[in-house]
Amino acid sequence: MGYATASARPFALRLPSPLEELRDDRLTSAGLWLFLKRDDLINPDIPGNKWRKLKYNLATAKEQGHQVLLTFGGAYSNHIRATAKAGHYFGFTTIGVIRGEEHLPLNPSLDSAVRHGMRLTYLDRAAYREKMSPEFIAMLHRQFGEFYLLPEGGSNAEALRGCAEIPGEIDRSFDLICCPSGTGGTLAGLAHGLRPGQRALGFSVLKGGEFLEDEVSGFQREAFGTLSGNWSIECGFHFGGFAKRKPALDQFIADFDERHGLCLDWVYVAKMMYGIFALAEEGTFPAGTTIVALITG
Ligand SMILES: Cc1ncc(COP(=O)(O)O)c(C=O)c1O
Repeated sequence: MGYATASARPFALRLPSPLEELRDDRLTSAGLWLFLKRDDLINPDIPGNKWRKLKYNLATAKEQGHQVLLTFGGAYSNHIRATAKAGHYFGFTTIGVIRGEEHLPLNPSLDSAVRHGMRLTYLDRAAYREKMSPEFIAMLHRQFGEFYLLPEGGSNAEALRGCAEIPGEIDRSFDLICCPSGTGGTLAGLAHGLRPGQRALGFSVLKGGEFLEDEVSGFQREAFGTLSGNWSIECGFHFGGFAKRKPALDQFIADFDERHGLCLDWVYVAKMMYGIFALAEEGTFPAGTTIVALITG
């Protein structure tokens, strides 16, 4: 499907994203069905939850007459890279406020952002923690003028609206939908979009992911004014923390690729998938459960 862009740069979206059955003896023997919701195939430049989160933000920024998007992220942030590309395709100037010091040459993530027109500015870690304070935002406005603010990770009410559309695209019945969780925004939106009786399970990719309970609740209250009460968070599959990996995870990724021809992203998606298989083996899901795994990127 084509998508009109202000800059007239061609931009194609694959929506609804494909739903693929994953046949695996380890699941079949436990009486489980697993489907992959391939959001990673939505668009090569703005894949997965990046598109879901940006969709309504871009529309709102345009409606409000903004020409500049400003956002925050770490030096390896997928969100920074995707925002730069969104600016490139949709005709916005973009500014990325990056945590930490500048390191040259730029890493591939930041290099891609700059090649797509993003202007980068850096903040030390202490200042970065205060980045959403009204004083700091006012200072950014003095420095950069008017802009549409996207929070770190892109998770806000508009982003949740985009993620809430995912279940409605799935044209078969299912019991549980799983996603990897970083800020919890995707889980919060996804759960809101479910039908009665369906549940969502987020796999924290961060150590100490228990804090996500409050985050997801806060996101849902802010976006929808209510809690959907149909989600939970699994904290046991972070493999040491954000962007940390262990041999067991690497072996799982290699084995999954060999069995199914799909190389899972190790920072997010592989941790969720490992968790689904581990919980299946432990007998956590009742036989007969149909699970959808959201491939977010
Ligand atoms: C590929 C991928 N999956 C999942 C997530 C986590 O999403 P959220 O921050 O909404 O929990 C991210 C981060 O935004 C991501 O880049």
